[in-house]
Amino acid sequence: MKTDVLVVGGEGDLALRKLYPALFALRQGGWIDGDMRIVAVARKSLTQEAFTTQVTAWYADQGGETGSAEWQSFLGQLVYASLDATTADAMSELRRRHLSDSERELVVYLATPPQIFAPVCHAMDAAGLVRDNMRIVVEKPLGDDLESFRSINADLTAIFREDQVFRIDHYLGKETVQNLMATRFANAFLEPLWNNRYVDNVQITVAESIGAGGRWDFYDRAGAMRDMVQNHLLQILCIVAMEPPAHLAPDDVRNEKRKVLSCLRPMDDHIVRENTVMGQYTAGAIGGKPVPGYLEEEGASPKSVTETFVAIKAEIDNWRWAGVPFYLRTGKRLQRRMAEIVVEFKDVPHSIFGQQMAQCCGNRLIIRLQPDEIIRLEMLNKQPGLGEDLPLRSVSLDLSFQSDGESAPDAYQRLLLDVLRNNPTLFVRADEVEQAWRWIDRIQEAWARLGRHPQHYIAGSWGPSAAYALIARDGRSWYESA
Ligand code: BG6
Repeated sequence: MKTDVLVVGGEGDLALRKLYPALFALRQGGWIDGDMRIVAVARKSLTQEAFTTQVTAWYADQGGETGSAEWQSFLGQLVYASLDATTADAMSELRRRHLSDSERELVVYLATPPQIFAPVCHAMDAAGLVRDNMRIVVEKPLGDDLESFRSINADLTAIFREDQVFRIDHYLGKETVQNLMATRFANAFLEPLWNNRYVDNVQITVAESIGAGGRWDFYDRAGAMRDMVQNHLLQILCIVAMEPPAHLAPDDVRNEKRKVLSCLRPMDDHIVRENTVMGQYTAGAIGGKPVPGYLEEEGASPKSVTETFVAIKAEIDNWRWAGVPFYLRTGKRLQRRMAEIVVEFKDVPHSIFGQQMAQCCGNRLIIRLQPDEIIRLEMLNKQPGLGEDLPLRSVSLDLSFQSDGESAPDAYQRLLLDVLRNNPTLFVRADEVEQAWRWIDRIQEAWARLGRHPQHYIAGSWGPSAAYALIARDGRSWYESA
């Protein structure tokens, strides 16, 4: 099926940094045709040439090879239209000039703030751009609480059917997240252990070394909870914790994820006080380079109490996971960029190895999303040699992608291709987003009631001391891989 793509906000950061490079990679891989039109609309008055120069500069900046005939030919697919996408007349003109063939499928990517989703959708509707064979892709932030999400969603679904709306969470496009589903559901040996009989705890860490500088205002309105936990961390948690879906069909997978979200134990003030930590970075150093504190970043308001770090102990109240804590943490300006899921298994019921077992840590499955993509099973076995009492050591079964020479595609490549294929499995359904907001809202409301303020942590550390205390209280510690 022939498809065209319309990017609203086509000259913005997301489009330049992620969407065009991903579309080019898809073209290189033979996934999309050379005759696909990619129409970028934005208000900025730019010539076609100035636009393609900008696309090229951003791609080159990421290390892309822009001297090739293929790149030049890709640029030929891009069309820049400077217009106000909230105006029906401008959108009608756009349709007439570039998107008039209604036999072709149409994918519209709203790479804009959600405040203008509604006016853009109405303008498209009035301009006759809305049709059965189109899909619309929207990015977070999808609201800042349940109520605002519902209002954004009502605007979208007043014009589009639910199956036409693709809500992106780019973490679901990361190769290792999908590999986790394959590892869980394609191997007979793992699933029987994947429950509270054998799993002691699960840790999900998404650590970033970058700060909020550059988008301080936006970030300050959200904070780590809305920016990262409500979406990326909860989606990862769903993939780890969900029941095996009956099929790989979109709604089978999304129904199971939705069930996990509805089993998250709701937090009251007492649980919030005990099981959540907020942090905010102060000046420090990362990789030997001094970096400013959150309140000293450019454009910062010096009194902000927005959290740049969150740690949570979450519990899932169902048969599989009762009693297994899920420790989540995420933050900016942490020691290094690292996203990892760690599943720690319980010790054997009876050890014949005495103290050694306690010294060599037990079994863990480590699923690393970035910077490199790794799935590693840590096991104990015998240290080679003539030691008398069977000395143990921890060894790793390593399933990293790099080891077999394959490199993982960028999340946006995967997700854009899925939109083109009309496969919403890795996109978030409205009821999932609602359920996630419900859980998050209770925590935010309790923070406000309790007057909680973030605890400071030094940039370049692993977060505030309270995050260590949160897990230490349970006799455990955060796994920090080398
Ligand atoms: C975005 C957040 O959704 O994800 C950013 O808004 C964050 O604050 C980014 O930096 C992290 O994505 P990744 O893929 O670089 O881990």
